[in-house]
Amino acid sequence: MGHATTSDNSGDAHDDIDRVLVSSARIASRVVELAQQVGNDYAHADGRLTVVPVMTGSLLFAADFVRALPQRRLRLQLTTVSSYGGKNTASRGSALNGALPKHLEGHHVLILDDILDSGGTLRLLRAEFEARGAASVRACVLLRKKIASALSTPCEYVGFDIDDEFVVGYGLDFDDLYRNLPFVGTLKPEARA
Ligand code: IMP
Ligand code: MG
Repeated sequence: MGHATTSDNSGDAHDDIDRVLVSSARIASRVVELAQQVGNDYAHADGRLTVVPVMTGSLLFAADFVRALPQRRLRLQLTTVSSYGGKNTASRGSALNGALPKHLEGHHVLILDDILDSGGTLRLLRAEFEARGAASVRACVLLRKKIASALSTPCEYVGFDIDDEFVVGYGLDFDDLYRNLPFVGTLKPEARA
């Protein structure tokens, strides 16, 4: 693979970003705060804490979060949820898809997700894990949109409340792109065309 020439930036994902909403420095310090809070709250659950990152959006968040929680013995089990339907909330939904965490009986489950939007993902997973005998189920999201559906969905730990805009970066995608950006930002309209 050759090196990109310095005079030609075509193909640079940063060129598609309109505004940075949350810088990588702010993300890093907030993730450490969240992990410290969780570490304190789950001191009693040592060895019986199962962290469940929702793939693929929480990949980066989960990696940073669990590394900021080195004092706890925890299990890490991934899950995947797919959303379907369009912009119309009434016709939107979420479905479990792929692997589900195993042996949750008696375990304290902490769901990690990138962003809380319609709330479908968290409601679905919470009900599923409670039905499977978890000792407790809580959720932690990096971002929450300031909209009624998100604000009315139970979620114990929230990194940042943001305006109702479509965002990418730090795990969040548009068409599976931009997950690798270290910050959260909005896309230029032409990049979403
Ligand atoms: P919910 O189930 O509607 O709360 O949505 C959660 C999922 O929708 C997230 O895990 C994301 O995958 C996706 N999502 C919602 N809003 C955005 C956004 O602004 N950018 C990228 N993905 C989003
Ligand atoms: Mg997602």
